Amino acid sequence: MDQYSMHTRTCGELRRKDIGSQVTLTGWVWHRRDHGGLIFVDLRDREGMTQVSFDPEHSGGTAFHMAEGIRTEWVILIKGTVRERPEGMENPKLKTGEIEVLASEIQVLNPSKTTPFQIEDHVDTSEDVRLRYRYLDIRRPKMVKNLELRSDFTFAIREAFHKREFTEVETPCLFKSTPEGARDFLVPSRTQPGHFYALPQSPQLLKELLMVGGVERYYQIAKCFRDEDLRADRQPEFTQVDVEMSFVTQDDVMGEIEQVLSDAFSKIGVDMPVPLRRIEYWDAMDTYGTDKPDTRYGMHLHDVTKIFANSRFKLFAGSSKKKGQCVKSFNAKGAGTWPRAKIDRLADVAATFGAKGLAYIAFREDGSITSPIVKFFSDEEMVNLRKEMDVEPGDLVMFAVADRLHADQILGGMRNHMANALGIKREGHDFLWVMNFPLFHWDEDRKAYAAEHQPFTQPEESQIDLLDTDPLAIGSHTYDFVMDGFEAGGGGMRIHDAKLQEKILEKLGFTPERAQAQFGFLMDALTYGAPPMGGFALGLDRVCMLLTHSDSIREVMAFPKTSSGSDLMSDAPSEVTMQQLKEVSLRLL
Ligand code: AMO
Repeated sequence: MDQYSMHTRTCGELRRKDIGSQVTLTGWVWHRRDHGGLIFVDLRDREGMTQVSFDPEHSGGTAFHMAEGIRTEWVILIKGTVRERPEGMENPKLKTGEIEVLASEIQVLNPSKTTPFQIEDHVDTSEDVRLRYRYLDIRRPKMVKNLELRSDFTFAIREAFHKREFTEVETPCLFKSTPEGARDFLVPSRTQPGHFYALPQSPQLLKELLMVGGVERYYQIAKCFRDEDLRADRQPEFTQVDVEMSFVTQDDVMGEIEQVLSDAFSKIGVDMPVPLRRIEYWDAMDTYGTDKPDTRYGMHLHDVTKIFANSRFKLFAGSSKKKGQCVKSFNAKGAGTWPRAKIDRLADVAATFGAKGLAYIAFREDGSITSPIVKFFSDEEMVNLRKEMDVEPGDLVMFAVADRLHADQILGGMRNHMANALGIKREGHDFLWVMNFPLFHWDEDRKAYAAEHQPFTQPEESQIDLLDTDPLAIGSHTYDFVMDGFEAGGGGMRIHDAKLQEKILEKLGFTPERAQAQFGFLMDALTYGAPPMGGFALGLDRVCMLLTHSDSIREVMAFPKTSSGSDLMSDAPSEVTMQQLKEVSLRLL
């Protein structure tokens, strides 16, 4: 490819076939070695690394003498000839390992101070230091690769949508609150004192308006902003691949998204066979204890309530008599060999998932049993349990006693924890849909119904009657794209009937005035011939994190924030002047 650049070749591309060519390379001095009269420099750019040798006998020795003074991370340009590495000096681990460039000329483009950490993939420094000097951290080959993969994947996504006649539309960042369940970031208006924009938590409302506007097939690589507690897979500012379609059914949207994702993944060498597996929400919860299951390993949850219906162990027996209560169990194969103290400590882990304790039975390899509860069980109960849970020596069977949702959540958390603790190998990627979530859940803190996905979700039509009698039993047209046990995307069909939308907002606790103030424009739009519609949003950062096998989305973002929301490089958020506050009519408390 013709390129306008100071170099003629990159540091990653020279091979045996280039021997004899004259080249100009630019890059950073990665390592510099003095070898009895010869100087070797590993020159690094975004493509890779090339060994450059400086010989005092060559070209009058000028390049050699300049090379004596250069240090790591200086930026240099060299001119020279590609030659074969002397016998025994080849490096088969490097793509450029068969050749080196004998330098005849060197220009120092810029020296560098000693960097606060070495620019190596396995960098031995705290993440805070990496983030403070992010521009140096990005020089690490792994970071460059991560950013390139993200770029390739984003490009492939754009291509796939474009091919399917989607229109890319940009929507504003200075907008109004969009309810995705987090706090908004507010931006004060200078021209309208006391008024604020909210940065969008997603383009949800705007994409629905685009459908009313007749765009029919929309997508956008959209920045979203959510003020929420951060975790390894969450940032306050992140990117969605946002999609909306009209004149479609749920199957149409899911089918289209699958095709686009499969196409885009294939461009970066990842095979995602379609159609994807679809799991109903409650099946996922009951089997895996989570709505984002990793199905690359077993350890399924079982309902064992019936086995213990008449048990002498009152905690278990009581469950079969109380409506909604159950005893659930799963078998952490292999953990039955752990020492008792280590098993007992699992109760602390279970507590983080809401358990009050952790009942367990450890089946030792010598046939003995360690368990605080087994003394209460009859032989018949044990026989049935062993059969149901496929017990073998070395197994650890754990129990949770609670209502269905909480028992699932506790054991789902433990299943994940045990898979990590036992080092269960998870090969390849795991892609699936979890679909048809409940429309609402009960928010204990607010003592109110809350939307499981978001307030504009289309309820299951046959269950709308339950709105007044049993709202928690209503299902919805929703689907999450689950990848390797993470929620990588989510979407649903939308309400396109203004009256139904009003009713749902009322159920969610919006007074007509508040609904009008916050979503009046949407409700109004729905009365002007809104088409049936549905859509989806992919968490681009999360998918890239999984594609690069990183343990945090920060690894695939150029300039991420810390868990307290700071940018350590620029010190944002930072104080502003009194004058700036005055301009936006604000005074600090
Ligand atoms: P949802 O809120 O499920 O849906 O978001 C979609 C996807 O965005 C990613 N995501 C995040 N990634 C990084 N940091 C965060 N703080 C963060 N929050 C969410 C997740 C998630 O699956 N408007 C709807 C989509 C729709 O219905 O069309 C929405 O935003 O991967």
